[in-house]
Amino acid sequence: MTIKEIFDSMAYGPAPESATEALGWIARHNGTFGHWIDGAFTKPGDTFTTANPATGEPLARITQGTAGDVAAAVKAARRAQPGWAKLPAHQRAKHLYALARLTQKHARLLAVLETLDNGKPIRESRDIDIPLVARHFSYHAGLAQLLPSEHPDLTPLGVCGAIIPWNFPLLMLAWKLAPALAAGNTIVLKPAEYTPLTALLFAEISREAGLPKGVLNIVTGDGTTGAALVEAEVDKIAFTGSTSVGKRIRAATAGRAMALTLELGGKSPYIVFDDADLDSAVEGLVDSIWFNQGQVCCAGSRLLVQEGIADRFHAKLKRRMDGLRIGDPLDKAIDIGAIVDPIQLRTITRLIGENPEGDHYQAACPLPAQGCFYPPTLITGLSAASTLMQEEIFGPVLVSMTFRTPEEAVALANNTRYGLAATVWSENINLALDVAPKLKAGVVWVNATNLFDAAAGFGGVRESGFGREGGWEGLMAYLKPAAKPVALKPVAPTPEPANPEAPALDRTAKLYIGGKQARPDGGYSQPVYSPRGKLLGHAGIGNRKDIRNAVEAAHAAKGWGKATGHNRAQILYYIAENLSARAEEFSQRLKDLTGYNGTAEVEASIQRLFTYAAWSDKFDGAAKSVPIRGLALAMNEPVGVIGALCPDEAPLLGLISVMAPAIAMGNTCVLVPSAAYPLAATDFYQVLDTSDLPAGVVNIVTGPPADLAKSLAGHMDVDAVWSFSSQNLATLIEREAALNVKRTWVNNGQARTWIGPTGEGREFLRHATEVKTIWVPYGE
Ligand code: NAI
Repeated sequence: MTIKEIFDSMAYGPAPESATEALGWIARHNGTFGHWIDGAFTKPGDTFTTANPATGEPLARITQGTAGDVAAAVKAARRAQPGWAKLPAHQRAKHLYALARLTQKHARLLAVLETLDNGKPIRESRDIDIPLVARHFSYHAGLAQLLPSEHPDLTPLGVCGAIIPWNFPLLMLAWKLAPALAAGNTIVLKPAEYTPLTALLFAEISREAGLPKGVLNIVTGDGTTGAALVEAEVDKIAFTGSTSVGKRIRAATAGRAMALTLELGGKSPYIVFDDADLDSAVEGLVDSIWFNQGQVCCAGSRLLVQEGIADRFHAKLKRRMDGLRIGDPLDKAIDIGAIVDPIQLRTITRLIGENPEGDHYQAACPLPAQGCFYPPTLITGLSAASTLMQEEIFGPVLVSMTFRTPEEAVALANNTRYGLAATVWSENINLALDVAPKLKAGVVWVNATNLFDAAAGFGGVRESGFGREGGWEGLMAYLKPAAKPVALKPVAPTPEPANPEAPALDRTAKLYIGGKQARPDGGYSQPVYSPRGKLLGHAGIGNRKDIRNAVEAAHAAKGWGKATGHNRAQILYYIAENLSARAEEFSQRLKDLTGYNGTAEVEASIQRLFTYAAWSDKFDGAAKSVPIRGLALAMNEPVGVIGALCPDEAPLLGLISVMAPAIAMGNTCVLVPSAAYPLAATDFYQVLDTSDLPAGVVNIVTGPPADLAKSLAGHMDVDAVWSFSSQNLATLIEREAALNVKRTWVNNGQARTWIGPTGEGREFLRHATEVKTIWVPYGE
């Protein structure tokens, strides 16, 4: 072909990146790998093949990790952890910095190996994945350096287990490893079975960086190896993968006093308003859904386009799709590489084949004759309930619907069980910034898409999981309070009545639901006695139906989340004022109930209300400085409806310590008061009644904590459950919470001193908020 002919046709010649070095590295290991444990490769065990999805050719033999292998890796990590945690922060920072520098030094080798094993275009691994890996280590070198001065009250968790998927193999490793190490933990990581190679190369690089033995351990294998890691003696699991496996991990870790972050699936909306820059929006989609074959958890796979421009937009998209180049991922001129594995290709093909609804358009670009490829596909004319609109396809398939008004766009966007990311395109800043807070997602991009940075939190809400990765908020998930926990002393059971004639049923006992005092559904109540056996009154016995009603009321009151921080503060001050007016009466009640002088507890309760009134408009988000033209805003949003089991140790102060941070941050709540001393709470109804608190913001259901905890944790409309109950309800709550992946915060049978600083503060505020990262264009 002459140059003139090339100019005429504009055809691309092949421009492949050389695989020699990467294949040479595999060959140096005789094409077979063991695990990386305690700073060295183990002897290979039973192996399976990892192949190049673009050609089907085998790349290497990988060891299938057994429970014994996992145990050996955890042991090595456990041995190394105290020494690693004791290193001065600056030394840990230097190690992380060395990992960043060596990632840069080996960038080309890492990028080629990633592309060989995963099938993504070299342009993506070279220009996006590997630079982001280096950035992640370098950013976390900084967090390690600053941690002791910024958070002297926090300490590492211990040994962390990490389980990662195949779509960003090395980047996901960095997302887990960097914060774990910066915080002083050691780690056992299991890469995905399809893409273990860059993790193994990175292990070798970590030795070159001088990382102490046992700080990083890698055990390869499939889901059974992952399950063994979940069962092992680790202090945390950080998981990225599918929602179904995430739910299983939630259930398997229930009650084991382990930290957990889950980054799960998504079906993220991509909203294009009629005033958007359509060409940019098209480019964004190409980047989001096609360059990575749709194998990005936060891909804008659900296009919502305003009706008036839908035809024009779809036409532009189709034209762009037809011009995409699909083929050898090592070719630098290729847009779309291979699907990671024939199994994944079959899943995509089956899902599309079984759901013929809508108009299917497949791009005219030619596919290579061999390897795992799927053509870029656009499906229009779907309805909100269509399977393809709801289910994650995880392939280069974009589904599309139209909307008329911004309200409809928001409603459609939120019509999903997921909540990972969302994209908004509009040239109207008012519209874009009006819609962003209304979207149920952990990340929102405005006039851009798929931007990531180590400084900006990433993670989902709803069934997309919980926890954030990146930024200070991500580091927090690898730390715990340094204060030594104290075992809970079970509260003495209510003594037998002095007067056996005392009534067991009292029709005046009430719950507090939707701003009103309500009879418990079953009509039952429990007599409450003083420590000397004097009948003090009755508390209602709430049941599942009462919880349902309370959750409904809490939902109806969600407008509270939109009240300003100032307004919420005013109400908290008012509650404090009203409690203060009745301080003597409450002190006496506490004395009657518990036998101790209640004055200090009432005073501490008033102070606590002041503390959270103060925080209402001061627990600010942040504007993250990210290395692109733009800002990532970290907005602290309410979690939603929080169900909480209050402690027995401080019947009034405990309830207020739980309620106040929740409502200060804009949540509504359903509280289950101390079962031993419920009357402290029922007296409090009147204080709430006189404090202008909107109905339904606080609901109180007295009754047996275990039954009520089960109802709360199993309720699909409760967003988080906290437990400070003196019964250890951790297993029950965490297992039930797996149903819809709700957030939990449980005390694991440990007590807390409620008077003083351990009973309040940022730990509570963090649990009462969800960080939403909103990327906005800013500056030049
Ligand atoms: P997957 O959940 O099957 O596998 C992910 C990892 O978990 C792999 O390492 C696998 O071996 C391991 N695993 C499988 N079964 C396990 C078990 N029972 N116990 C412990 N570990 C187990 O997901 P897949 O198909 O590999 O990845 C695609 C999914 O991951 C998609 O649904 C995608 O949305 C999600 N994903 C989410 C991301 C996020 O940041 N939220 C990022 C990347 C993928």
